[in-house]
Amino acid sequence: ISLTAPVSKQSGADHSVPAVGNKIYIVFGSNMGSSKEFATELELKAYGQGFDTVLLSLDDALMSSGFSDAAAILCVTSTYNGFPPDNAKVFHEWLMSSVAILPHGTRYAIFGCGNKAWVTFQKFPRLVDARLAELGGIQLLPVGEADADGVFEEVFEEWVDPVLDALSHSLGSIPHVTTAGVVNIGGGKLTVEGGEIPDDNSATAVLHMGSFLAEVAANEEMQSPLSTRSTRHIDLILPNGASYAPGDHLAVYPHNPEDDVTHLATRLDLPLDKVIVIRSKPKRKTESLPFDRPLTVQTLLTEVLDLFKSPSRCGMTFLASICPCPPERAQLEELGRDVVKYKAVVGDSKMTLLEILDKFKSIPAFGVAELLLLLSPMKPRYYSISSSPKGPKGADVASITVAHLSCSMPSGRMHQGVSSTYLKGLKPGDRVHVSLKKANDAFHLPEDSTSPVIFVGAGTGLAPFMGFLQHRKHLLQSGHKLGPAVLVFGCRSEDEDFIYRADLEDYLKDGVISHLLVAFSREKGSTEKVYVQHMVQRNGPLIASNIASGGGTLYVCGDAKYMAPDVRDAVDKALEPYSIKVTTLVEQQRYVEDCWA
Ligand code: 2AM
Repeated sequence: ISLTAPVSKQSGADHSVPAVGNKIYIVFGSNMGSSKEFATELELKAYGQGFDTVLLSLDDALMSSGFSDAAAILCVTSTYNGFPPDNAKVFHEWLMSSVAILPHGTRYAIFGCGNKAWVTFQKFPRLVDARLAELGGIQLLPVGEADADGVFEEVFEEWVDPVLDALSHSLGSIPHVTTAGVVNIGGGKLTVEGGEIPDDNSATAVLHMGSFLAEVAANEEMQSPLSTRSTRHIDLILPNGASYAPGDHLAVYPHNPEDDVTHLATRLDLPLDKVIVIRSKPKRKTESLPFDRPLTVQTLLTEVLDLFKSPSRCGMTFLASICPCPPERAQLEELGRDVVKYKAVVGDSKMTLLEILDKFKSIPAFGVAELLLLLSPMKPRYYSISSSPKGPKGADVASITVAHLSCSMPSGRMHQGVSSTYLKGLKPGDRVHVSLKKANDAFHLPEDSTSPVIFVGAGTGLAPFMGFLQHRKHLLQSGHKLGPAVLVFGCRSEDEDFIYRADLEDYLKDGVISHLLVAFSREKGSTEKVYVQHMVQRNGPLIASNIASGGGTLYVCGDAKYMAPDVRDAVDKALEPYSIKVTTLVEQQRYVEDCWA
């Protein structure tokens, strides 16, 4: 199958200007590594769509070619006090100098990783964006701005597909697949061959760098039988040598549900036991796709690809190109072309590839190369560890607390979280791929156990604090003095989702916590919705005095979008009599968030 149809003009970037070069520079400025991680992910995706990509630091890219063969520059960078990261300093000097030039028609887009707590938020990314425009670059999308204290990954996720869609439209190129693999502007890259599984079966497991198998020791329901929802407490036995600290995260590599795997394989006439090898030219190392290893279609569909992430607009255009039925083809073309329509039909309802294939019945069966183009690699999901190595279960057990995600989509489909559904179904003795990730720098207990601590968490935002509390209990039992600990926890009602209630009440009795403040948002017989931020407000003097006079630290865990800002405001209010601001505490690492969207 191959296709070279031109793409109609989109609003936004000027597509009439041809690019001089053909390389897509995916460049990063990164001290701590997150920008590099994001750039790596972007590069894999762009490469998978057939773009001729190079992945380099901003300085290395400048020194390798001066961008002289660039068709586009996609840049992910952080900023440090408004200054460029170390590996972008030479680039910065060049960019601001009079010798900086860009090839005619270079497209560009910038993604900035920053921290809103600093006044210099996004200073460098915005500067790069403005200067590339001055140099005649064609902006594909406005700067993607992520806040490290907020929804970092989610903002990136929302930026990646649109930027590649915009790039593809702007350069007038549609990904297409030849019998040899995925091909686009840069020539044949990804190929899928037949293969054989070695006798010892060793090459079939998908192992991610630094990951290991953990055995499930327990998987218990934490919500009461009166609740219609589910939160699981899962104990995982770590192998020898794996260690963690309270507050660290555990990454889980989930599996897609068996029914969906079978459904997709049947729709595509792909035998589940067929063995394939994914190869790339030139050879490349990446964690997201298992190159050069034989694996079955079953493993590919179960572990390697995320069956639930909607195909991008580019993917819709590709599906249109192989769709023989004119009315269906026209609809798919429109979804590929029209951002608003795509969002309404596909994006907002999280339409899956399976749903698309069921709706557009004339789309013929296709192969694994096409699947690689349409689906994203399965990403690990991160959970706060809810135990301490010094806790009662011992250092080789890490617990996680997982809310089962389930909601109905506009299409009527029940959307179940891939990872939480997978974890919910695990039984003791099952083995699961995991890896450990350090918490952000400040998210650990203070060195001095007598220093006051305030924990604010809603729902499974309680998880890391359960680890902290196990640790405090251990300190107490081993003769240490403990300072005050205020726990503010939010849930719906006393007899639905007051998770870990017995443990918390014991901690209160033992003096592991000094105050237990629970906000119930849907308590029976009450019309008042009480959230953790309201509890902070009501107990302002207690919280403020522990922070201000006591030199304490406040930790927040839970929803980043609404809860975290409201808690910040409530704490700021409480601190007014002391003339201290949350922003100052953030700089002193005494106000620490571990929040997600
Ligand atoms: P709700 O579902 O009744 O609105 C754990 O999910 C708890 O967090 C629930 O009690 C939930 O309340 C509450 N919650 C929902 N939105 C919140 C917000 N913006 N700030 C604080 N808590 C919130």
